[in-house]
Amino acid sequence: MTKKNIIVALDNPLDYQSVLEELDSNKCIIKVGSIIFNYHGRKILDEVANHGFEIFFDIKFHDIPNTVSKSIESFKGYPIKLLTIHLSGGCSMIKSALDSSKTINAKCIGVSILTSLNEEESKEVYNQEIQKTVSSMFNLANETDIDGIVCSPHELKLAGDLLQNKIKITPGIRLSDSNSDDQSRVMKPKEAINLGATYLVIGRPITSHKDKALAFEQIYQSIYEE
Ligand code: C5P
Repeated sequence: MTKKNIIVALDNPLDYQSVLEELDSNKCIIKVGSIIFNYHGRKILDEVANHGFEIFFDIKFHDIPNTVSKSIESFKGYPIKLLTIHLSGGCSMIKSALDSSKTINAKCIGVSILTSLNEEESKEVYNQEIQKTVSSMFNLANETDIDGIVCSPHELKLAGDLLQNKIKITPGIRLSDSNSDDQSRVMKPKEAINLGATYLVIGRPITSHKDKALAFEQIYQSIYEE
């Protein structure tokens, strides 16, 4: 079976059709996140599905349990393979989201903390430093039996120790160490896979490349070549 560990982020609402046309749905999943979903609405889910792709619906639900559940259940019938919620929504919300995800045949994935938070902000919001906040979120993931988590590639080691047998999704992936965009603390694809990542979320290195299929293939080969 073809391996499918790459999730390609469709983040440009005005330039995404070529990504769907040029990439192979047998080799990758498509991320529909808040930028493109808020722009196009459900039509974008239909369009991605019509091109044969499975969907990572990275909408990061965060509300009271009933609202999150009803929102998730409203997506029944879409080929959503994975969807995200915020683990900081708490135990009851996570369990409700998990139950509702099962009814639409999607895996429920929890975002630990936003990697954009710095130490000061983590203390302001969670009253503890980043490392401790991430550990408590991972513990919550274990207690609730959620299907998986999203974390920075630099948290994969901790995720591997605390969260065996859970799906681990990580962004911040670049083919080379030098990086020209806003991602800091990047990691190479193979390195992240070796550290236990199940899926890598990769956007601009593929979607902004003039030859998207070639850019994808280079990353794909870098993971699977011996
Ligand atoms: O273009 P790039 O490869 O940086 O895209 C990474 C994707 O992962 C984007 O959709 C971005 O929103 C998402 N992401 C991220 N860092 C996080 C969480 C999500 O880059 N901490």
